Amino acid sequence: MKEILEELERRRGIARLGGGEARIAAQHKRGKLTARERIDLFLDEGSFEEFDMFVEHRSTDFGMDKSRIAGDGVVTGWGTVNGRTVFVFAKDFTVFGGSLSEAHAEKIMKVQDMALKNRAPIVGIYDAGGARIQEGVAALGGYAEVFQRNVLASGVIPQISVIMGPCAGGDVYSPAMTDFIFMVRDTSYMFVTGPDVVKTVTNETVTAEELGGAVVHTVRSSIADGAFENDVETLLQVRRLIDFLPLSNTAPLPEIECYQSVTDIDASLDTLVPASSNKPYDIKELIRKVSDEGDFFEIQASFAKNIVCGFGRVEGSTVGFVANQPMVLAGVLDSDASRKAARFVRFCDCFNIPIVTFVDVPGFLPGTAQEYGGLIKHGAKLLFAYAEATVPKLTVITRKAFGGAYDVMASKHLRGDLNYAWPTAQIAVMGAKGAVEIIFRKDTADPEKIAAHTKMYEDRFLSPFVAAERGYVDEVIMPHSTRRRLARGLKMLRNKDLANPWKKHDNIPL
Ligand code: HXC
Repeated sequence: MKEILEELERRRGIARLGGGEARIAAQHKRGKLTARERIDLFLDEGSFEEFDMFVEHRSTDFGMDKSRIAGDGVVTGWGTVNGRTVFVFAKDFTVFGGSLSEAHAEKIMKVQDMALKNRAPIVGIYDAGGARIQEGVAALGGYAEVFQRNVLASGVIPQISVIMGPCAGGDVYSPAMTDFIFMVRDTSYMFVTGPDVVKTVTNETVTAEELGGAVVHTVRSSIADGAFENDVETLLQVRRLIDFLPLSNTAPLPEIECYQSVTDIDASLDTLVPASSNKPYDIKELIRKVSDEGDFFEIQASFAKNIVCGFGRVEGSTVGFVANQPMVLAGVLDSDASRKAARFVRFCDCFNIPIVTFVDVPGFLPGTAQEYGGLIKHGAKLLFAYAEATVPKLTVITRKAFGGAYDVMASKHLRGDLNYAWPTAQIAVMGAKGAVEIIFRKDTADPEKIAAHTKMYEDRFLSPFVAAERGYVDEVIMPHSTRRRLARGLKMLRNKDLANPWKKHDNIPL
C-alpha cells in the first residue's frame, strides 16, 4: 500500500514540475511566476483542487510521441477567493510554451463546463504561444470548442482573463469574449499575428510591446480593462474585483461589512462644483465620497478618460458607477466613451448590479473625426445599453446635462428609477452661449444684447428646476446628502421587478 501511495506522490511531483527546473528558472528570470505559483497566489491559501494533472497529448507527429508532459501545458481546477468558489485555468509556458493541443483544450472545456453548471466565475490565466503547431487542425477545433463555451457562459457567470505573458493567435479570442481582461506591464502582450507576420504582410517593423503590450491595449485599443506592475499585484487586483461580483446572474450580490455611516453629511460636496461652469473638477472625488470606505475599482482607467466606470459599494452592496469626467474633454461623450460605458452598463445589467450615474456632460463631441468614426452608432450603444437595462438605475446630475447626452445618461425617460439633481445642475438643449448664437443670430454684432439674452437663457433654463417642474428630476438634493440619498434609494429598489418584452436577443448597434 505504502508503495502505491508513494507512486502517486512521485507522479504528482513530476507533474508539478511541468516543463522542468530549467524552464521554471527561465520563467522566473523573466519576472514571471509559473502557472501553479500564480494559481496558489490567486486563490485562498490551500484551497486549490486540481483536475486532470496527468492528462497528456495524443499527438504522434513530429516526434511528439516521445515528448509527453503530464498536464499538457495548462493547470486547471477550482478553489476559493475569500471563501467563494472560483474556477481557474492557467497556461503553463514551461510545457510546449503553453500551446493549445486537443487534450489541453479538453482540460479547459472541462472547467468551463463545471463553472457554468455550478454557476461560479471562471478566471483564465494566459502565458502561451497559441495553437500547438505540431497538432494542426485538432488544436483549431479545440479553440473553437472553448470559444463556444465562452459565448454560452457570457452573461451567466463572470469570466475574467489575465494576460501574464504572450497571448497570440488562437489564444486571443477566448479572452476577447470574456467580461474583463487584465494585463501585466512589460511582460505580457496580445496580438492576432506577431511582429514577424506583420513585417511580411504590411512591411511594418514593430516590437511585441509596440504591437500588443499593456500600454497599447489599455490606452489605445481598449482591449484590456486594466494593467498592473507585476504578476503578484495583478492577481491581487483580480481577487479584489471578484469580491465585487456576484457568482452568477442568479446569485445575490455579495454583502460586505460597511464601516462608514450612510447618514453622515459630507459638507465638502457642497463646494465640489466650481462657481464657473467652465471650470473642471474631479468626478472621482464624488464617487469615492459616496462609496463605502472610498473603495472604487475602476475599469478602463486609461481609456476614454472623459467617462469613468467602475465598481464600488454603498452600505456593503456592490454598485456600478458611470460618471462623466469634467477633467477630461469637459466630460463630453465621444465614440470611445460611449463604447466603454455601454459595455460596462451591459455587464452590470447582466449581473443585477445597480447602476449609479453621475452626469456632467456638455453633449456629444462635434467634428468630422467623430462623425466619420461612427459617433451615431457608438453613441447609440450607450443609449441602447441604458434603455434596455432593468437593474435599479439612480442618476445624479451634478452640473451640465445638455442635449442628446442628457437623454442618454440614464435619464428619467430611459426608465431611470431615481433621478436627482444638485442645485448646480443645468438641464437644457445646449449651453447658453451656443443657444443665444442660434436663436438671436441677428443680434450677434451687439454684445450688450447678446449678454442680456444669455443672462435670460441662463436664468430660465440653466437650473434643475425646469426639469423638476416636469418631474424629469424626482428631487433636487443637497450635494452633501448624496450618499444618504443613494443608500436609501438603493435599499428601496432592492425588490425592483421589471422585465423587457420576450425576445430571442436584442440587436444592439454593434
Ligand atoms: C508548440 C510551442 C509553440 C507552439 C512555443 N512553443 N510556441 N510549441 N506550438 N505554438 C514552444 C517552443 O518550441 C519552446 O519549446 C517553448 O515553447 C518556448 O518557446 P520560445 O520560442 O523558446 O520562447 P520565447 O522566445 O519566449 O517566444 C515565445 C513565443 C514564440 C513568442 C510565443 O514561442 C512563438 O512565436 N511561438 C509561436 C507562436 C505562433 O505562431 N503560434 C501559432 C499561432 S496560430 P522548448 O522545448 O524549446 O522549450 C494560431 C491559430 C489558431 O494560434 C487560430 C484559432 C482561432
